[in-house]
Amino acid sequence: MDTGSIDDDFYRPADAFFAENAQVALTYDDAALATLYSDVLPRDTDLETVLAPSLRLRVPIVSADMDTVTESRMATAMALNGGLGLIHYNMPEREQLSEVSRVKNHVHGLIQEPIKARVEQLIGDVLALVEERRFGFRTFPVIDEKGVLLGLLPGHAVKRRYASRSVRDAMIPRAEVHTLRQSELGGDPIARANRFFDEHMGINKLLVVDAEDRLRGLFTLSDIDRITQESVSRLKPARDEKFRLVCGAAVSATRHSTGELDQERIAAHVGELVERGVDVVAVSTAHGFSKGVGDTVRLIRREFPELPIIAGNVTSAAGVEFLAECGANTIKVGQGPGSICTTRVVAGVGIPQLTALHVASRAARRSGVTILADGGITKSGDIVKALTLSHGVICGGLLAGCPEAPGQIMEINGKLFKQYRGMGSLAAMKAGSAARYGHADSDAQRKIAAEGVEALKEVSASIDILLMQLAGGIQSGMGYLGAATLPELREKARYIRVTPAGQRESAPHDIVEVKTGGA
Ligand code: XMP
Repeated sequence: MDTGSIDDDFYRPADAFFAENAQVALTYDDAALATLYSDVLPRDTDLETVLAPSLRLRVPIVSADMDTVTESRMATAMALNGGLGLIHYNMPEREQLSEVSRVKNHVHGLIQEPIKARVEQLIGDVLALVEERRFGFRTFPVIDEKGVLLGLLPGHAVKRRYASRSVRDAMIPRAEVHTLRQSELGGDPIARANRFFDEHMGINKLLVVDAEDRLRGLFTLSDIDRITQESVSRLKPARDEKFRLVCGAAVSATRHSTGELDQERIAAHVGELVERGVDVVAVSTAHGFSKGVGDTVRLIRREFPELPIIAGNVTSAAGVEFLAECGANTIKVGQGPGSICTTRVVAGVGIPQLTALHVASRAARRSGVTILADGGITKSGDIVKALTLSHGVICGGLLAGCPEAPGQIMEINGKLFKQYRGMGSLAAMKAGSAARYGHADSDAQRKIAAEGVEALKEVSASIDILLMQLAGGIQSGMGYLGAATLPELREKARYIRVTPAGQRESAPHDIVEVKTGGA
């Protein structure tokens, strides 16, 4: 039975669908994807995406380079789950370098900077610290001023009864402490630590030292147990060719006070990022189709021919072609869709995301670059729609409530929240992001038009759980379209417009909801 032509009349491939809707800008909720014959099970789908020849992710999700979303903790968690984090630039350049190093040097399961005790401390001092910082553990490595391991203070000694005794008296001496050399960890540190705990019944801490016996980290039995149990279902990490986690960093089009691009400073900073092992830099601005962004991308491409470059943001084909010609590999698409954005309200510009993505994707195909759908994603269904036209998505608000995002948790009326603010909000611009919105740093101290707001997000599940749910949603979408890979998803997608009544029908309705479905 050939029903192909009937469906073809209604459910249209991208080029036809957007051509037929050429005079109207659409976003995610304005269109639905038609289901297609499938012999693909969601669990058999492959979420790998290639953003640049040397930048491959296992899950096509990137955490936004925003100061309330991505620092090293978020970037590490994203890469561990197959995605990528872009470390923001609202911090001194030196600090951004350290943040990148933290991700690149991360060994899963290894606590790299364990809390330490000193021999001259009293047990009472250590107890006070445990109570003040509410540590859930009481065992501490003991080191000297050069970081050399002297012993291990066992939890059973950290008791009020021994408060006046010194750490020196209570610690297990170095010769009796179980350690591994960093060089012994090999390519799979978790498996190595797991073997150690198998072989040493009753031991639940393993210290890692370098060749000079300086403390470099700590494995705990409970972490290793949890990680090995999770490894069966967990998403696989995104790594570089040296088996380190992938990490990106945002760079800004820094200018001299005269307004000229500060080429030397940009090149020097990117050079240091490369030395730390950064996998990609993102030239992040609100208006990527501009001389400043083009010149910055050209400069980085000239100085670092092999380095993957993300640049943006644009919403036009000409913008994509411009940045591609300047040397960018991946173009960020999105102006004003973000949950904290006011660009469209303030400046009257920006294009709803689905149309912007289609226009950009056509230019990207021609120019041989990839595109990232940046902003406005609130659920996994949006990601599926975005991936029919792009090679990955950038999420800010969706991830800002996770424990891995920077910032303190605050309690308001019994609910827990974290701060989430636009990089174009006044507070963020004062903290350094003014250049992203075309203002000089000094302007940020005066009254300038903010293009973002400061907000709160309710605290959400960890990145491990959230990405698992989002990846599961993408895989379901692929199963419905019979797409085993993301290129197949892009090729097979068929769209139709949805009315406001159709949108209402598309979400839970006419019920009293007692439990939400998650992401
Ligand atoms: P979501 O919707 O994921 O969007 O929260 C995150 C994206 O929003 C962009 N962004 C801004 N856009 N004013 C804007 O117009 C801002 O202050 C602002 N801050 C971030 C950015 O592209 C981010 O990835």
